Amino acid sequence: HELQMNLEQIEKGGFDHFMLKEIYEQPNAISDTFRGRMLPEKGIIRMAGVDNNIERISNAKRIIIVACGTSWHAGLVAEYIFEELARIPVEVEYASEFRYRNPIISEKDVVIAISQSGETADTMAAIQLAREKGAFVFGVCNVVGSSISRETHAGAYTHAGPEIGVASTKAFTTQITVLTLMALKLAKHMGTISNSDFQMHLQELERIPDKVQKALNSDEHIRKIADIYKDATNCLYLGRGFNFPVALEGALKLKEISYIHAEGYPAAEMKHGPIALIDEQMPVVVIATRKGYYEKVVSNIQEIKSRKGKIIAIVTDGDTEVRELADHVIEVPETMESMSPLLTTIPLQLLSYHIAVMLGKNVDQPRNLAKSVTVE
Ligand code: AGP
Repeated sequence: HELQMNLEQIEKGGFDHFMLKEIYEQPNAISDTFRGRMLPEKGIIRMAGVDNNIERISNAKRIIIVACGTSWHAGLVAEYIFEELARIPVEVEYASEFRYRNPIISEKDVVIAISQSGETADTMAAIQLAREKGAFVFGVCNVVGSSISRETHAGAYTHAGPEIGVASTKAFTTQITVLTLMALKLAKHMGTISNSDFQMHLQELERIPDKVQKALNSDEHIRKIADIYKDATNCLYLGRGFNFPVALEGALKLKEISYIHAEGYPAAEMKHGPIALIDEQMPVVVIATRKGYYEKVVSNIQEIKSRKGKIIAIVTDGDTEVRELADHVIEVPETMESMSPLLTTIPLQLLSYHIAVMLGKNVDQPRNLAKSVTVE
């Protein structure tokens, strides 16, 4: 037993939990994901699974993304990215709903299945259904040789390395990275992006690992914020645009490891219901980075403030406007709007991690949850 404990300690590489180790691995995991695929000097992206099927994919009338949980959130981010860059209409579906809905799919559709484990039963069933209806199915998996990676027509691995913590962290950011590469590649092929814009995206993506590293430097500051709010019973997460799915993901992280009830919403939806929940006790985490509806988010923050909610804002480095309104700000480096989820996610992962540790919860293996859900 002692030997096993020591082995686990070694596997955690000096971190208290796998989740924290995996959060900290993200700068490397993201560069592992684009290494060898992105060649900025040549101005190209190489992805065998896309290259070999480029006509099939770029002629898609529609892309349907199927996934569950955190992978579904990565799919929602990808919806914004694909539509913005490649101008292909995208729908994102919970695999569990899609499979029982008699969905309308044709041979002109491309289905992208996203799964860290590659073993999720509902996602697997959605793929089988899509295949039967003649769609082309592309997989984005982390586990090499997994069932989903074998059942799809083509795919791209995330190369994040093993993810042990039940709460998905580096799988999420590397899924977004792969899907960004894919969208950029399609955009270039289809001519929906200019060469200079394409180049700018590649250069910025190369800088992301360093920027994630900088975001990780707020860890101690985030731990202090966690200490203030650890006894909250409810928490609201708000974001808009590319960062709306990040709000959903932040809320899921808090729920699954700390067992605090949390909901993610598009910031503007707040006034259609959730605003009724806000009182002096209620922490509201708002993603308010400078690009992307900044002024709109600022006015959402004012609405929360006038109802005395406690505001924890994720802002761009050097922000002053939100700082004046919020109770706490957590800074992330500036980046392109489409890449901001890769940075804004980091503080939310750390916040939920620290709260769960302070509450004495089993961070790596939360109650009632399995790392991969292989049954319905
Ligand atoms: C995330 O933190 C969860 N543990 C869960 O939602 C997970 O993302 C979901 O079960 C999908 O798993 P997969 O990516 O392995 O298919």
